[in-house]
Amino acid sequence: MDLAINNSSSRELLQAQVHVWNHILKFINSMALKCAIQLGIPDIIHNHGQPITLSNLISRLNVHPSKSRFIYRLMRILVQSGFFVKHNDVHQEVVYSLTPSSELLLNDQPLKMTPFLLLLLDPMLIAPLHLLGSWFRKHGSTPFEMTYDMSFFDLGAHEPRFGSMFDEAMVADSELVSRVVIKECQGVFEGLNSIVDVGGGRGTMAFAIANAFPHIKCTVLDLPHVIDNLKGTNNLDFVVGDMFEKIPPANAILLKWILHDWNDEESVKILKRCREAISISKSDRGKVIIIDIVVTVDNKEMNNRATETQLLWDMLMMVNLTGRERTEKEWEKLFVAAGFTYYKISHTLGVRSLIEVYL
Ligand SMILES: C[S@@+](CC[C@H](N)C(=O)[O-])C[C@H]1O[C@@H](n2cnc3c(N)ncnc32)[C@H](O)[C@@H]1O
Repeated sequence: MDLAINNSSSRELLQAQVHVWNHILKFINSMALKCAIQLGIPDIIHNHGQPITLSNLISRLNVHPSKSRFIYRLMRILVQSGFFVKHNDVHQEVVYSLTPSSELLLNDQPLKMTPFLLLLLDPMLIAPLHLLGSWFRKHGSTPFEMTYDMSFFDLGAHEPRFGSMFDEAMVADSELVSRVVIKECQGVFEGLNSIVDVGGGRGTMAFAIANAFPHIKCTVLDLPHVIDNLKGTNNLDFVVGDMFEKIPPANAILLKWILHDWNDEESVKILKRCREAISISKSDRGKVIIIDIVVTVDNKEMNNRATETQLLWDMLMMVNLTGRERTEKEWEKLFVAAGFTYYKISHTLGVRSLIEVYL
């Protein structure tokens, strides 16, 4: 078969080459960002209080003198990818400032994504990606299990460094999401007296709900290694348990970033436990609140970056866990299989959505 590329113009040929190169080299964007975080560049710019010159930035960095001259190259790629802005100050000197994205990478801010970056770009989470190809050819669970001989959450229990890195990443995400949910989705909590945050990690989301709605009794259910040493408050309890076995009764069950970790069969099992928990509480407003991705590949309102981010998350789930990201139709199938009758989706959380599921 004659390949189209054989008949293409030189321009098309070179464009195709750029596309392939760009794709091959793209991971360097991630690693350059990680390097900037390790060097503390966003914090240095922030603490300076105004745009910083290259020489000033270098003088504050803890780098070997022989490496100073490389910093502008690191800054150049990060300007290109939108993490810093480069402009000229009144003396016509080049200065750098932060963008909204690098503001999310500052250390001393409650809303930060740095723990996530350090988790996802840790060699422990990069290693299973190298096995994706051979995983496709073999029978077996996940590339993660091929690498570590145990499941993702078991490794969290056995390797304290990995476990805490993961929990901290979840705390960071929940700080951001809880702020948006409580500001934009107040109605979701109306009429509730109790809520269980299933797989609620260290309780960040539940603490935020408990503070914003002091009349709601909040419970966080998670594995022992995650919550063993945590203390509750007046209206917040930590309960060690297994969501596949039993979920404490409540008006509402929150599943934030839970079901995308699990395959359909496992997810239906969890949803059935949720259904039992809200049925016992006998509230006519009983519901499950899901915060997760609803894949929108064909949705023209989502921009390319958002859709690609959703699909990258899906790949990550395939590599590390048995889970997946789901389209609305795929979500609906789970709800029906678990015995729910009605759901509504609010697309208010960026690449994720909030789904309320009713009996
Ligand atoms: C992706 S994290 C989400 C954490 C939290 N909901 C958040 O979004 O910040 C999944 C959580 O499920 C917990 N988990 C995993 N298996 C569980 C089980 N069988 N029973 C209860 N919790 C479990 C993990 O320990 C982890 O905290």
